[in-house]
Amino acid sequence: MKQTLLEELHLSLTADVPFISPKFFYDEIGSHLFDVITLLEEYYPTRTEQWIMDAHRAAIAKAIGDCDVLLDLGAGNCAKASQLFSSIKPKQYRALDISKEYLEAAVADLQKQFPQIAMRAQAIDLSLPMAFPDISNLRKIFFFPGSSIGNYDPEKADQFFTNIAQECHGNGGLLIGVDLVKDRETLHLAYNDPLGVTAAFNLNILLHVNRIMGSNFHLPNWEHVAFFNESLSRIEMHLRARADLEVILPSDGTKEHVIQFKVGDLIHTENSYKYTQEDFTEKLHRAGFDNIQTWTDPKKYFLVCFANAKN
Ligand code: AVI
Repeated sequence: MKQTLLEELHLSLTADVPFISPKFFYDEIGSHLFDVITLLEEYYPTRTEQWIMDAHRAAIAKAIGDCDVLLDLGAGNCAKASQLFSSIKPKQYRALDISKEYLEAAVADLQKQFPQIAMRAQAIDLSLPMAFPDISNLRKIFFFPGSSIGNYDPEKADQFFTNIAQECHGNGGLLIGVDLVKDRETLHLAYNDPLGVTAAFNLNILLHVNRIMGSNFHLPNWEHVAFFNESLSRIEMHLRARADLEVILPSDGTKEHVIQFKVGDLIHTENSYKYTQEDFTEKLHRAGFDNIQTWTDPKKYFLVCFANAKN
């Protein structure tokens, strides 16, 4: 039976180590706050990836070769993929994301600018296995920018890559951007910006949860925590209770829960894994890719890879 969002939140908030899935960051306010994060001086990933894509546009297009279908994983407003159209020249473009209405509007807009490309919006949950039987015989290029892969646990990332490699059926590949391990201070600042936008992004998840569950999380009782966990090579984001407190989760159809938090208790909201170039390309190899080409920036902060699916 498919779990509802309400059931999912009940389970995760009453787990031994309470957590909220990062997908709940992205309500309307959260999506806007994320857009602001990408503009911050301290949040280097977005602009560094853009720099790499611009600086190596021709080489990236050459590595990719022909493209029957460009599949944009987590397309959002389709802006990043549309910048590839003139160099990659896809015959078809398929935008994939969770929110169908938003996606359809973005694709309709883009279709007017690029009438020669056959476009389609497809609502999809990227955390589930994907299949594209209708285009199995075409050369497919999957695009997954922004280090979104960093928000997957490593085993989940392996399954995701294996799924994509298989869906290429020996003809196609994956263009992906990933954030690299770097000095602690740079990593820390990127998730602890002095303006407090990342803190607001993290805290806003509780307002979203209140709306879904009817719970009574009170924002002044919580504070943003983000740090680099070196042994697991990931930034962890949490919300920390500022006092001993109770939160009421109204009935999920079975029973009402009252969760007790002690001052200092944490709710885990996100992991953002940082890879070395070697570990990341090795991961792609193991999942069924070869002939992996990479591009980076002068400080080696971020990596863009094109990985060919093995025959
Ligand atoms: C979307 N994702 C790649 C971002 C990241 O850096 O992990 C989400 C984010 N969380 C805090 N700041 C940005």
